[in-house]
Amino acid sequence: MSETSPQTTPYGTLPPASPLAPRKPVSLPRLHDMRARGEKITMLTAYDATFAAVADAAGVDCLLVGDSLGMVCQGLSSTVGVTLDTMRYHTESVVRGLQRVQGTTWVIADLPFGSYHESRELALRSASVLMQAGAHMVKLEGGGWTTETVRFLVERGIPVCAHLGLTPQTVHALGGYRVQGRGDAASERLRTEALALQDAGAAMLVLEMVPATLSAQLTNELTRCATIGIGAGKGTAGQVLVMHDMLGINLGKNPKFVRNFMIGQDSVRAAMAAFVAAVKDGSFPDDALHAW
Ligand code: KIV
Repeated sequence: MSETSPQTTPYGTLPPASPLAPRKPVSLPRLHDMRARGEKITMLTAYDATFAAVADAAGVDCLLVGDSLGMVCQGLSSTVGVTLDTMRYHTESVVRGLQRVQGTTWVIADLPFGSYHESRELALRSASVLMQAGAHMVKLEGGGWTTETVRFLVERGIPVCAHLGLTPQTVHALGGYRVQGRGDAASERLRTEALALQDAGAAMLVLEMVPATLSAQLTNELTRCATIGIGAGKGTAGQVLVMHDMLGINLGKNPKFVRNFMIGQDSVRAAMAAFVAAVKDGSFPDDALHAW
């Protein structure tokens, strides 16, 4: 019996395989197909093996090893202090958890602040660390200057998810966590950046705290890039939430765009399955409650 076999440890036992019906692995072609068919893509953040395995069992399509772990796991006040080494550690943990349950979920890992800004070559070295840790795709924030970096990575076989709107790594430049893309000039700039990122090969685009009408319009225009919204309304191709927020593991007030899916559920897995069901059937998010 291997040292990491679930039988050898009394802590955080994982089942040998997903208790749900086995799924086909989520792949890039499958995500494109879901987007083309209008099936909503579900994504949660994950930072460790157990929660990753439970999310997989709940049927979540994608797990984001987000640099939000800076706040959620490390107690930092922003994502700026998260290092590449920390991202590697959490990516490895998530991937190990999925391997132990023969998980099928698509894993995206955040390139942290400072790991891709200096040059395309540095971005490639940093992305390689996360891909070798087991990620299927890397995510980086911003538009304009990032476009050539995205193209450089994609040409070298690294799938890329872009991130526009509220980009937490630049919170100090943005002046706080506020809605982005409001007004004609800002929405046109965001649109131009999004189209350029698609042309550069970004297969996914997180839109964070962007007005619902703008993100729905972008979703229609970006036929080769799946938009994933967080506080961006129901019109995106998919939805992502920070896992701890949607489980209500929070002493403060949740942001407006979060629903606590633990309410009415008796397990974390049931809460995650409720998130999957609500996103797939279009009942989450509710633009009247969760969007701008
Ligand atoms: O780091 C993160 O968790 C994210 C999501 C909020 C999209 O980037």
